[in-house]
Amino acid sequence: MRTEQPKMIALSDYRLPDYLIDETHLTFELHESYALVHARLLMQRNPGLDESLPPLVLDGQQLELVDIELDGRQLSVVEYSLTDSHLQIQPAKHQFELSTTVRIEPQNNTALEGLYKSSGMFCTQCEAEGFRKITYYLDRPDVMSRFTTTIHAEKHRYPILLSNGNPIAEGEDENGRHWVTWEDPFKKPAYLFAVVAGDLWCVEDSFTTMSGRDVALRIYVEPENIDKCQHAMNSLKNSMRWDEEVYGREYDLDIFMIVAVNDFNMGAMENKGLNIFNSSCVLAKAETATDAAHQRVEGVVAHEYFHNWSGNRVTCRDWFQLSLKEGFTVFRDSEFSADMNSRVVKRIEDVAYLRTHQFAEDAGPMAHPVRPAQYMEISNFYTLTIYEKGAEVVRMLHTLLGAETFRKGSDLYFERHDGQAVTCDDFIAAMESVSGMDLTQFKRWYSQAGTPELQVSDSYDAATQTYQLTVKQSCPDTPGQTDKQPFVIPLSMALLSKQGTELPLQLQGESVATEGERVLSVTQAEQTFTFINVAEQPLPSLLRGFSAPVELRYDYSRDDLLFLLQHDTDGFNRWEAGQQLALQVIEEVVGQIYETDEPMLDMRLIEVFEALLAQEDLNPAMLAEFLALPSTGYIIEQYVQADPLAIHQAREYVSNQLAFALKEPMLARYQALRKVSLDTPYVAQASDFARRRLQNMLLAYLMRTQDLEIMDACIDQFGIADNMTERLAGLACLVNSPFSDEAEKALESFAERFENDPLVMDQWFSVQAAAGLPGGLERVQHLLNHPAFSIKNPNKVRALVGAFSTQNTANFHAADGSGYAFLADKVIKLDALNPQMAARMISPLTRWQRFDLHHQEQMLAQLKRIKNSGDLSADLFEVLEKSLAV
Ligand code: TRP
Ligand code: ZN
Repeated sequence: MRTEQPKMIALSDYRLPDYLIDETHLTFELHESYALVHARLLMQRNPGLDESLPPLVLDGQQLELVDIELDGRQLSVVEYSLTDSHLQIQPAKHQFELSTTVRIEPQNNTALEGLYKSSGMFCTQCEAEGFRKITYYLDRPDVMSRFTTTIHAEKHRYPILLSNGNPIAEGEDENGRHWVTWEDPFKKPAYLFAVVAGDLWCVEDSFTTMSGRDVALRIYVEPENIDKCQHAMNSLKNSMRWDEEVYGREYDLDIFMIVAVNDFNMGAMENKGLNIFNSSCVLAKAETATDAAHQRVEGVVAHEYFHNWSGNRVTCRDWFQLSLKEGFTVFRDSEFSADMNSRVVKRIEDVAYLRTHQFAEDAGPMAHPVRPAQYMEISNFYTLTIYEKGAEVVRMLHTLLGAETFRKGSDLYFERHDGQAVTCDDFIAAMESVSGMDLTQFKRWYSQAGTPELQVSDSYDAATQTYQLTVKQSCPDTPGQTDKQPFVIPLSMALLSKQGTELPLQLQGESVATEGERVLSVTQAEQTFTFINVAEQPLPSLLRGFSAPVELRYDYSRDDLLFLLQHDTDGFNRWEAGQQLALQVIEEVVGQIYETDEPMLDMRLIEVFEALLAQEDLNPAMLAEFLALPSTGYIIEQYVQADPLAIHQAREYVSNQLAFALKEPMLARYQALRKVSLDTPYVAQASDFARRRLQNMLLAYLMRTQDLEIMDACIDQFGIADNMTERLAGLACLVNSPFSDEAEKALESFAERFENDPLVMDQWFSVQAAAGLPGGLERVQHLLNHPAFSIKNPNKVRALVGAFSTQNTANFHAADGSGYAFLADKVIKLDALNPQMAARMISPLTRWQRFDLHHQEQMLAQLKRIKNSGDLSADLFEVLEKSLAV
């Protein structure tokens, strides 16, 4: 809880640290009702600064100081000063040793930051500023130190004691206690520190690095989960190989450990040599985890592993540079997943996610640049903009420089800055050095918030065979930022002939034409590209592969979109054409809903879906992507002031029409796919993901027809499946159907079967929380009392409260405001326990400006109610301040 109003911290206020910590020696004494932390810090005045000795100000929160010694002499109370966030002393020498002992209460730590207990084990989460809740320290990423850590705990309850680096000693204490000492040879900032103590089992494997070193790999889990580690282990080995092959990066310690914990605020954490994971991002086996969960495990394991170089060996100077490690690492993990699975499907998924969620953030009150200029609470800046848009910025560099030069740039970056804490400018400087390019203008992507709009128009002159593309860019104002300067926008494009082939491209002034696609570099507010020797009126295929995170506006007719959906040679743009077509159709229905109960659906959508279904050679993964209508969240983002209920209704209407019209071919295809699924054992690989995705999508359409035979097929898929992907899809279809008896029966049998598996119960909660039928809120309220639910567990909160407020349009946006009031209640309750979670869960309400006036009013009322509910955490305070400021 805050005691004073949180204040803004500005990038422009950055100062080098006054003191450095060469060595950090920690000893933990873990007990059931308290823990003691002894810290012995070997410190020096920062040699880069002057000779004076300013006061030493250490960070520390929620610590009870038990003892403090300077160079072995105990300090009296007049020799130091304490506030609720700092400890200050006056050093007398340039080098000194500071020892402190603090008492903390991990068992009462519900914020899950610092040292806490989860399912009986001790674990830590120190990023961004959690280390200061463990001991007094210079808790900033540019203070890097060599850590030695000793952990003492009761041996029976905590047989496994882990920290970063290598174990160097162990022994027994009296009273059934034992200890282990770990030493990390690499200097690191405190945010990468970790300890774990628990009764854990581990799965072991090994990896031989490219230089022939053997690395022991261990995944630690609670004993009952020991059979769910193989997929994560495979993913880890694939990641290690990939980083060697694609980036030339080798692992650097003799052990790499992953620990799964049940209570975790985020996905996972890249602590040096000891990654700590949300169990949902490690545990996966066919019977309990969906294909999507398997892919998430693969992606997160890779992400955290890749941080060993992009984040740990080279870290951030300060938290404004967060995207230096996060944007780069997300880019790296998405390329890895693209290589392991289907590249185009991965790109489609990433772009759909970016446009629905990051674009919304960029258009809302929390909008901030990839490198923010200020913040109150850094935990609020682990955002879609830092991660996903940050990854897009790195992707654009990769596109502009080309893979080979980009690799030279990353090599140079790692070589120049190994062991350092650096800035986004250093990353760009390395890319400039290897490419000879001036990236000054490109860097606006780091400083200007908001999603740029790219307006493209064209004209063709048959007489001179010239084709002109005129591109105008602009970027909307965002809080605190107006009059944006033009960005550097890589515009990947091709020109298609009437036959759908790519026309040769020759810009005016060029002596020869190039085949296929090319990347135009858009750098001005308005720019015209003139192509010569264009033999026929072309149809442009623009922003191929989504080559920049912008809103593209080009006036495609519905027939143009139908053509592109069938013929574009870029798989991403084929999908995009289908999305834009479906969007136009749904928007048209939204308009009609106000006038009539019987809207008119553009039959061309049905016809093209029918044609796609009949296309035997179409890859099932692509077909599944084509058949998926744009999400309600994405459609809402297309409006200035959206009516969420009308949008939901229109999307439902279009889905139903498609289902009735295409029932026959869908059923035939469904049955064929289901048969393959029944006949082949589960494999976690791209081609099988694709088959099950298409199968489940068809089932969801088919269930809309309310046909009893289809319901039987659905019950069959739910009941007879060797994997969670088919089972859960069957359950979701039943829960969203009018067959409520069958749905209840299925829910009950599912819960009975999986009641002891918390991750499966999360899915059971989510399916119900997302169900859009009337009475959804009552159901969720009822589930809050279910024995498997706990408001202290973030996965449970996300599964129930999160799924309701982000996936249940009809009930969350209920006209009477009940959905919003419910979320506000939960946010208030959460804030007292876990401020980071409260500040995350509130985000749907912060988007109030996107909605019609009625919904705006209801959302604002709840935001104000939260604001006036009493003492707020800094996390929630900042979000509310910004949301209500506009
Ligand atoms: N560095 C982590 C990641 O992206 C992020 C993270 C994990 C985190 N746990 C956190 C950030 C808790 C803030 C608070 O991989
Ligand atoms: Zn990360």
